[in-house]
Amino acid sequence: GKDGYRHYMEKELHEHPLVIGQTLQRMIDPATRKVVLPDMPVDLATVPRAAITACGSAFYAGVVGRYWLEEIARLPVDIDVASEMRYRNPPLTPGSLGILISQSGETADTLAAMRSLKQAGLPILSILNAEHSSMARESDVVLGTVAGPEISVASTKAFTAQLTVLACLTIAIARARGTLDALGEEELVTALLDLPSKAAEVFTHGDAIRKMATIVAEARDVLYLGRGSGYPVAMEGALKLKEISYIHAEAYAAGEMKHGPISLIDRTVPIVATVPSGVLFDKTLSNLQEARARGGRLLAFTDDEGAERVSAIAEQTIVLPKVHPFVTPLIQTIGVQILAYETALLKGTDVDQPRNLAKSVTVE
Ligand code: M6R
Repeated sequence: GKDGYRHYMEKELHEHPLVIGQTLQRMIDPATRKVVLPDMPVDLATVPRAAITACGSAFYAGVVGRYWLEEIARLPVDIDVASEMRYRNPPLTPGSLGILISQSGETADTLAAMRSLKQAGLPILSILNAEHSSMARESDVVLGTVAGPEISVASTKAFTAQLTVLACLTIAIARARGTLDALGEEELVTALLDLPSKAAEVFTHGDAIRKMATIVAEARDVLYLGRGSGYPVAMEGALKLKEISYIHAEAYAAGEMKHGPISLIDRTVPIVATVPSGVLFDKTLSNLQEARARGGRLLAFTDDEGAERVSAIAEQTIVLPKVHPFVTPLIQTIGVQILAYETALLKGTDVDQPRNLAKSVTVE
């Protein structure tokens, strides 16, 4: 049941802290505080490349994974949505690792893309919530997202669980490739273990996010902006808004604004920005200033460290808890997912069963 929540989506949003914690428990040895993976079908020290494929939100989780794997583990990553990957016959480097991401393990395009990667000789690592699914049966190794059943069509907790697994996988590959020493691993593991309590803190901002939703609910179009690993978070926020509130939303890498979408900006097109403190903060802030100078209404998610400078230019600012920059995408995701939920409530849509959508897309 819904445990007293109005919708499954609301219940599942509140399960973020639990699910991140459970997934970490599966992957981190509490005694050594090291990431421990099952036996891998490739040698992580010498694997030359990874090819990630998935659909929808799972694809956006993969894009975050790409930023992490390339930056932290220095592993080159190809990534594509499954419906493209399966037909475009990309040249795959022999010995590469195929990585599949899926909540259901049954998505037709992802399953077909997986088979085409297998046919090309790639071993398959799947990140799955349904551990007894078609994809699970055909994978060489499965890393489970310990999210429990997800009923709401709009994915929430499965997404942060996917990020949690990808973060642990990144640490393990980085260690094997020698790009992360023991101290570095300790720092990233500490950041991950800190997440459940920080994720729970996001829910103390419910009133502020509801207030932000009143602006979003009036719009016909909304732009989502982010940089670095905040860019896929913007994509996730825009998808969630579209799915359940039927408001058109588009995500852009903040630096791309001036190459086109800035012409859309006026008071009727609010901008939702993910702008956590860190190395990309100043760059993102200056993109937001440009948008504001053109009359855009800025709705920003930052953290304690960015709060002062962001609230100086934004109409509304949500100050999420400050976490290690590595794990900011998880905290920011919870913020934008709650915003979509609150907006849908204001619009009065069927939150758990949005029109035209199915939980599991088993047809091409
Ligand atoms: O079960 P899967 O993770 O393979 O599903 C992939 C997408 O269909 C899914 O993430 C979809 O985009 C969600 N409705 C997003 O909220």
